Amino acid sequence: MLVRHAIFPVAGLGTRFLPATKALPKEMLPIVDKPLVQYAVEEAYAAGIRQMIFVTGRHKRAIEDHFDLTFELEDALEKSNKADLLALVRAVKPDDMDCVFVRQPKALGLGHAVLCGRHVVGDHPFAVLLPDDLMIGTPPVLAQMVAQFEAKRASIIAVQEVPAEHTRRYGIVAGNAAGERLVDITRIVEKPAAEVAPSRLGVAGRYVLTPRVFDEIANQTRGVGGEIQLTDGIAGLLKHEKVFAYRYDGKRYDCGSKEGFLQANVELALASPELGPEFRAWLKALKI
Ligand code: UTP
Repeated sequence: MLVRHAIFPVAGLGTRFLPATKALPKEMLPIVDKPLVQYAVEEAYAAGIRQMIFVTGRHKRAIEDHFDLTFELEDALEKSNKADLLALVRAVKPDDMDCVFVRQPKALGLGHAVLCGRHVVGDHPFAVLLPDDLMIGTPPVLAQMVAQFEAKRASIIAVQEVPAEHTRRYGIVAGNAAGERLVDITRIVEKPAAEVAPSRLGVAGRYVLTPRVFDEIANQTRGVGGEIQLTDGIAGLLKHEKVFAYRYDGKRYDCGSKEGFLQANVELALASPELGPEFRAWLKALKI
């Protein structure tokens, strides 16, 4: 197993969800009954990763507490024989999973956040998961990417086609087809306007990267929006190594936006065996 570490950058300000995110990290917003960050951690765990590195900002507590032991709660559930709920709570952090919290002192950008995890990752390949991109796939999207990483021994970046008018929201890659789902990247640019975008392949919030990218991020000056961009670090990496874009098999919900967050809640509630049937009936009765 090559990829053992995952970095979760969770230090952004979450301004699009104010006031909900005034005192709560947006990664703790729930989709149905689970916080966004837990979906991402479960995806990393399913890909064989056991060391989870959270790069946090001023809202450290809630995420740290979520992945900690909750003695009083577990004790109360045990005493009241609520075995199902107890199992649910304990499953949040399996015994073989390790959580490390690293502080990003200032929100200087995604590249900078990733760099904050460097001393924990060391000289090993690692995954980056942005929890506000909720990815649903079978097998889970990161597991698909780790398999590609193991086959190619090169960095793998998740992409999907985006509408021309949305290229400004994404890192955009261009390159040569290298199989059914892979593109051998020749260029990557952060948030280009539609007129200058080199393609419509937009980067989603999942990466498997070689450690050389840390040096490349460290060498960057501030990019788009005055931030240290991960995209610019990957552009630097391209000068030394192959990097592949991977068209994942699955569905992405952009839960950093209100629309995507609401869509994820509705679709996952409909898919829930417990809630789905009644929720569907209720939605139909709305006659919208
Ligand atoms: P976003 O671009 O979504 O920014 O960051 P944001 O601040 O979280 O949210 P808005 O736009 O103000 O609503 C993408 C990811 O990068 C992390 C965020 O936590 C999110 O997971 N990030 C961004 C950091 O960890 N540090 C940063 O300096 C910037």
